Amino acid sequence: MNGLVRRGIAVAVVLLCLGGAARAETPLERGRALVNGIVACGNCHTPQGPGGPVAGMEMAGGTPFVEEPFTAYASNITPDPETGIGRWTDAQLIAAIREGKRPDGSLIGPPMPFGFYRGLSDGDLRAIVAYLRSLPPVRHSVPKSEYRMALPAAYGPPVGAVAEVPRTDPVAYGAYMAGPLGHCMECHTPMLPDGRLDMTRAGVGGRAFVGPWGTALSRNITQDKEHGLGAWTDAQIRTAITEGVRPDGSRLSPPMAYHYYRSMDDGELGALVAYLRTLPPTR
Ligand code: HEC
Ligand code: HEC
Repeated sequence: MNGLVRRGIAVAVVLLCLGGAARAETPLERGRALVNGIVACGNCHTPQGPGGPVAGMEMAGGTPFVEEPFTAYASNITPDPETGIGRWTDAQLIAAIREGKRPDGSLIGPPMPFGFYRGLSDGDLRAIVAYLRSLPPVRHSVPKSEYRMALPAAYGPPVGAVAEVPRTDPVAYGAYMAGPLGHCMECHTPMLPDGRLDMTRAGVGGRAFVGPWGTALSRNITQDKEHGLGAWTDAQIRTAITEGVRPDGSRLSPPMAYHYYRSMDDGELGALVAYLRTLPPTR
């Protein structure tokens, strides 16, 4: 999808919101806005070229993630029946995304951010599945991931039902965006030696991401004035998130997903910034 179409969709969503009772957003529209914006499944599942996501390969998989404990390849999650998820039911897809379980009972490995996806609301998850189903099937076989570590038996007890988070409360909705929807906090929070995130230092950054861009260290996005975003204006934070440009003009490297984040609407960006402003300054 090109930028113009994406912006068109963002405008349509804003108009829908402003229109209020006129017409509710359909699940497919909601799913499209989420996946092409804050959720950005394609940041891992769509092959990336120098200019961002590769055209015609949306969600076709294959990107390798090489870390000490694993060499994982993002799966093909287009509706292709042979190489993608075309034969999976909605319930199977929901279990895969939220609980990391495949239809055959095997567990999906990292770096899928299951800790956060467990908090995806039922409605948003159905919307994401509706959007995945609408994609053109791409026939593309992906190598099998290799985990040199034991995967847990499960990522937790069955999730059950998760309520919607009202968009009328910016800080609560911003927290939902930075957590379950966008997993900003997965990349921007240091990891404990046992692999869990150190949530006492949420947003402090310092995690290393190795890829064709070299090594990128995630930054401190707490309100610390010297090391974090405390001295940035709201507009500067928005520009970094949506355009990948810092106040000093320098550019952010991947895997920061600004190719996706730039399609967020004004309400979403406002909520995200309102939440970031609540992160206690931490060095
Ligand atoms: C940080 C990277 C990352 C993000 C973000 C991510 N995934 Fe994944 N996903 C992976 C990797 C890597 C695998 C393969 C893991 C394995 O082989 O066990 C995977 C596997 C899957 C599978 C299993 C497919 C199969 O055939 O086994 C599904 C379904 C899936 N992802 C859906 C999604 C959806 C939907 C989103 C967005 C809501 C998403 N993923 C976001 C990295 C990611
Ligand atoms: C897949 C990992 C990943 C995700 C997800 C992610 N980021 Fe980042 N982010 C990074 C990395 C890595 C950098 C540093 C890039 C560089 O220095 O070139 C960064 C940089 C930033 C910066 C610039 C800070 C500075 O001081 O330069 C901001 C602001 C930011 N991210 C906010 C967010 C927000 C908000 C979200 C969620 C909407 C988010 N990030 C999601 C990895 C990620």
